Amino acid sequence: MITINENYLKLQASYLFSNIAKRVTAFQQANPDKEIIRLGIGDVTRALPAACITAFHKAVDEMGSDPSFRGYGPEQGYDFLREAIAKNDFQARGAEISADEIFISDGAKCDTGNIQELFTQDIKVAIPDPVYPVYLDTNVMAGRTGNFVDGRYQGLVYLDSTKANNYVPALPTQDVDLIYLCFPNNPTGSTITKEELSQWVQYAKEKKALILFDAAYEAFIRDASLPHSIYEIDGAREVAIEFRSYSKSAGFTGTRCAYTVVPKECMAFDSKGNRQSLHSLWNRRHCTKFNGVSYPVQRAAEAIYSEEGQAQTRELIASYMRNADLIRQEMASLGYDFVGGENAPYIWIDAKGDSWEFFDMLLNKAGVVCTPGAGFGKCGEGYIRLSAFNSYANVVKAMSRLRETLK
Ligand code: MLT
Repeated sequence: MITINENYLKLQASYLFSNIAKRVTAFQQANPDKEIIRLGIGDVTRALPAACITAFHKAVDEMGSDPSFRGYGPEQGYDFLREAIAKNDFQARGAEISADEIFISDGAKCDTGNIQELFTQDIKVAIPDPVYPVYLDTNVMAGRTGNFVDGRYQGLVYLDSTKANNYVPALPTQDVDLIYLCFPNNPTGSTITKEELSQWVQYAKEKKALILFDAAYEAFIRDASLPHSIYEIDGAREVAIEFRSYSKSAGFTGTRCAYTVVPKECMAFDSKGNRQSLHSLWNRRHCTKFNGVSYPVQRAAEAIYSEEGQAQTRELIASYMRNADLIRQEMASLGYDFVGGENAPYIWIDAKGDSWEFFDMLLNKAGVVCTPGAGFGKCGEGYIRLSAFNSYANVVKAMSRLRETLK
């Protein structure tokens, strides 16, 4: 008899963004004439940078002729891309990361979800609340939690991120082994300073713990004092894995390209207490379960680092941040309390009431889709998240509808 992994039965009925999509589709079917503006899921709306398109076309042409055709590429990614990343994203900021410590993949969602496979079931996992649901759900699937009771899974250590701590969680009071951090943060849009991040690195060193640092939104940082990478912090190479993505920074949500950095010094321990290289383990996993990102996509990603690519992605990001500025301005003038949107494309707003009710109200009355904070965890109750990913014209329209609805 085939039996199931019953941990799946502990999960909430559906993934947050699928749940929202279902509600929006139902609303659209019931109101076919109503134009909906989506400021919910963080999905980009603007075209890929021209430099990426040119490189993409060229690579497709190479695939169309026998002498330049490429079959399986290296599972870890082509050297041309890994070298461009090491040089531009890390060495240029004084972070000593080499090309062979970078693993190209098809998304930070997959990588942050898959990485937990490397660890035993009985480790203590610390997860922020509110949180990007992937970190949580994949640990539930792996059996690292008990049941979902009163809005939380038993057995996890939740790191509350609230207004009281400026949305940067305090160090846990009990020992933990695996720590998820995401800055600039999804969903709150908050940021972490170098000093605060240093405390986490120090903690991980003392406890022989590991930090999984999701930096998918680093390109949106405007404050020059903030760290873009955890490897800007001394000692982080030993205790941190970092995730990056081109989805939001260069419009690759539909194109798929991201990467994970696993420094060679980064270690975890076997049952005898011996140090084991996470670089070797991740490499083994990657080679076994992944066959690389397609050649044209990697060429398109490489083009981000060209002079034109840099200028074009800067313009892309600035256009979304202009939307974020407008949302912040409007929410302030409507008297709402919020955080984020200064160094991140998300604005986290105190809804002054139930977050799903607020979601339904905005959808029904204004035709605007947001993300209810409760979907990101217990501490998200009472909040909603607005995403800056849309056209300026749509954000202007959405804000005017919000003004009508909320005034
Ligand atoms: C979000 O809206 O939180 C993100 O778009 C989800 C993702 O990147 O998977």
